[in-house]
Amino acid sequence: MDMTGISDGDFERYRRLIYDESGIHFTALNRAILESRLKERLREREGETALSYFEKLRSDKGELRDFLDSITTNLTRFFRNQAHFDALEKFVIPALIDVKKNEGNYHIKIWSAGCATGEEPYTIAMLLAGLLSPPWNFSIIASDLSLQCLMKAKEGFYADAHMSGVPETTLRKYFDRAEGGWKIHRDIMAKVRFDYHNLKNDPGFNNIDIVFCRNVLIYFDEAAQRAVIERFWNAMAKKSFLFIGHSESLFGMRTNFTFVKTPFATLYKKWV
Ligand SMILES: C[S@@+](CC[C@H](N)C(=O)[O-])C[C@H]1O[C@@H](n2cnc3c(N)ncnc32)[C@H](O)[C@@H]1O
Repeated sequence: MDMTGISDGDFERYRRLIYDESGIHFTALNRAILESRLKERLREREGETALSYFEKLRSDKGELRDFLDSITTNLTRFFRNQAHFDALEKFVIPALIDVKKNEGNYHIKIWSAGCATGEEPYTIAMLLAGLLSPPWNFSIIASDLSLQCLMKAKEGFYADAHMSGVPETTLRKYFDRAEGGWKIHRDIMAKVRFDYHNLKNDPGFNNIDIVFCRNVLIYFDEAAQRAVIERFWNAMAKKSFLFIGHSESLFGMRTNFTFVKTPFATLYKKWV
């Protein structure tokens, strides 16, 4: 125990609260991350102990939301794992066009779940804007439980240091130069709706054609992963696709999704 006093009992209490409220699973292996973020919050709140702050979190929903925000890991980048975007362009979109044109439905609905600061949904929007033409159209819902990330995402401004991986042609076509960075074009921004959503809860979405939930499930334990995957299933259209992170897998999990191996990347489909 040190000056801020994070005892084993405190760790257990916080670990359980975080899990119950978000599905994010801290273990002895990543205890140091939780401790350092909690200590930082206690330092900012003079006089608060681990125990008194815990009581505050239980009675103050706003504080709890901010606290959960502070313990999330929001690392992301444009065109993260290019193989997924190749599979999207060359496999998923052609398959959906085939299915949906028979239904006379020309709108593709995408959900980027755990979108962090927006690079993932904007990458998808830039890709699809170059790929689809009328009568085809698309819209993206991008959600996260970090309000700070969502605010940043809504600005659509990215500092130079965050632009690595964006091809020169994409930069010219979909960004404007701004001081110290780049601003996404309005028509691309208009394709993405950012929403606060905790994956612990039912999203209330339906008929989603493509879900991206990459590098989010790794923070959950198996029970929480299973619950989220089932929520995706319920929110998705009868013929639809799911991308998870390349280090994540549904292997060994009882689910109705079918594993799909494309020449570009592996993914999952709902095909009923
Ligand atoms: C590492 S980022 C991944 C961003 C992006 N999907 C990517 O692959 O680059 C993980 C994101 O998941 C979000 N997250 C974690 N638990 C969540 C939950 N229960 N509900 C919604 N978002 C959550 C975090 O706030 C964080 O922004």
